[in-house]
Amino acid sequence: MALNENYELVEAIEPDVARLTEEHKARRTHWYFHDIVPWERGESFRDKPWDVSQCTISENARTSLVLNLLTEDNLPYYHSLIEQNLPKTSAFTAWNHLWTAEEGQHAIGIRSYLLTSRNCDPDELEDDRMATVINGYEPTYDDPTEIFAYTAVQELATRVSHRNAGKITDDPAAYEMMKNIAADENHHYIFYKSVMQAMLDQSPETVLAGIFKTLDGFQMPGVAMPRFVRRSLEVAKAGVYNLRIHHDKVVMPVLRDWRIANLTGLKPAAAELQEKIMAVPAQIMEKAERFEKRMGMSYA
Ligand SMILES: [Fe+2]
Ligand SMILES: [Fe+2]
Repeated sequence: MALNENYELVEAIEPDVARLTEEHKARRTHWYFHDIVPWERGESFRDKPWDVSQCTISENARTSLVLNLLTEDNLPYYHSLIEQNLPKTSAFTAWNHLWTAEEGQHAIGIRSYLLTSRNCDPDELEDDRMATVINGYEPTYDDPTEIFAYTAVQELATRVSHRNAGKITDDPAAYEMMKNIAADENHHYIFYKSVMQAMLDQSPETVLAGIFKTLDGFQMPGVAMPRFVRRSLEVAKAGVYNLRIHHDKVVMPVLRDWRIANLTGLKPAAAELQEKIMAVPAQIMEKAERFEKRMGMSYA
């Protein structure tokens, strides 16, 4: 299927995008990060320079929050991915603007918590945030079906990762912040998975290719972040986000939600893609087990 045909399919579901945006607005619980940040713990970094001994949450929790913050800091690139590759019509634009505004709050919320609670080296954090955005993040997706498959998976992945990061902090303020952000990500997931569903209902053949490309070799956007490999390894070992979690809490639910295994009457090429998609979870588990063995992790 040619790229412009996929583009036409996305244009055809514009009424669904408008409806889903309205449903999202009605469903989302509004919250303010400034109600959660523990401002009373804040002190001047000029008068009292930062020192690691001031941290109140574990190193794993700090790494997880910083990694999740840097992921959120990539927002300009996510925005332009959607802006450049989707129809420039009112429904898509309205959604992209609303979604961008909501995502923008996430980085500000996590950063405010980290700085106020002194759970990060403020100089290092700003240097890393600058480096992340200066390096830039170039997603390899330009086909609209891949973009929606990727955003659906990515939203669910960040939901899980934010929620788990909050849990390991043992700090009620951080827990509350990450719980609220995770709830937003869940609403974003519901939007994107429903857009995919609308496309699946119209043309499963077209959409299956996008889903396969997204799930096969899925990576959290992070290559542009300083020390990404070391940080993601720490987050994996801490049980915030790793391959097993990716399999159990992201890939399996996504495949179930889209009922990929139950699609019938597909043309041979699409049936082949369906088979390839359904083989992905086992491949991820194989990698998960190899990783856990290497790390000496046990889930028995
Ligand atoms: Fe976010
Ligand atoms: Fe999101």
